[in-house]
Amino acid sequence: MVGQISIDEQADALEARMSDELDVIYTKSALANMEDGHLGASGMGMDNLLKHPGKLFLIGDDPRLPKMPAKPTLLDYFKYRARGTNHLLQSATHALKAGMPEKTILACLLHDIANALFIKSDHGYWGAQLLEPYVDEEVSWSIRAHQALRFFPDESVGYKYPILYTNYFGADYEPDNYIKEAYQRARNHKWYMSARLITVHDIYSFDPKAQVSWEPFIDIVGRNFRQPAEGLGYDNSPVAHMWRTIRRPTKYL
Ligand SMILES: [Fe+2]
Ligand SMILES: [Fe+2]
Repeated sequence: MVGQISIDEQADALEARMSDELDVIYTKSALANMEDGHLGASGMGMDNLLKHPGKLFLIGDDPRLPKMPAKPTLLDYFKYRARGTNHLLQSATHALKAGMPEKTILACLLHDIANALFIKSDHGYWGAQLLEPYVDEEVSWSIRAHQALRFFPDESVGYKYPILYTNYFGADYEPDNYIKEAYQRARNHKWYMSARLITVHDIYSFDPKAQVSWEPFIDIVGRNFRQPAEGLGYDNSPVAHMWRTIRRPTKYL
């Protein structure tokens, strides 16, 4: 009976079914499993190999995911790996219409890149790290700081605590201490307003008739993002491995 199968067994069964249907054997990382409430990587042992005669562990591109070019650009990652880019385009469009400088528009366009294609938890920090070697330091600094600043109003620019956060996290939610400390540090930083502007344009409601597209931002990205010629992930930058992992999240090693 299904009701008597543990969640672990169900996950194993799903993995096995997936490996049966496709030509390779899939495993899952500890992080992916933790997001499902389980500890440890799974499916990595010889027993799993023996269960699938004639098949091998996946050690390359995941055939279930869209195929990526050999030398992917930032926009390729958005095209082939991201979801939830409408929010980014809306924020960037909002900044563009407000006549913001290109650096701010780029920061708005990329501020939630971690949510869109990597990790939600501490998304500002992960997003900033992914981008750091390729953008102006002020842009990555602002993206890192926006996560903390979102929790703190600034009436001087008309930024209020988001109603959305009250709905999502409850009226009594208090940010962690490290977020409060990050806010204090940012408040006193020379680039405070650059990060604050991300929160000002970080909007979830938008004119439904307004069309958003990448088109107005292609040149802004071209001028402000140092796209490596080898492709993102293959340029030996300190974060190249993070991009490779986004490209191949299920690669065995
Ligand atoms: Fe965010
Ligand atoms: Fe956002």
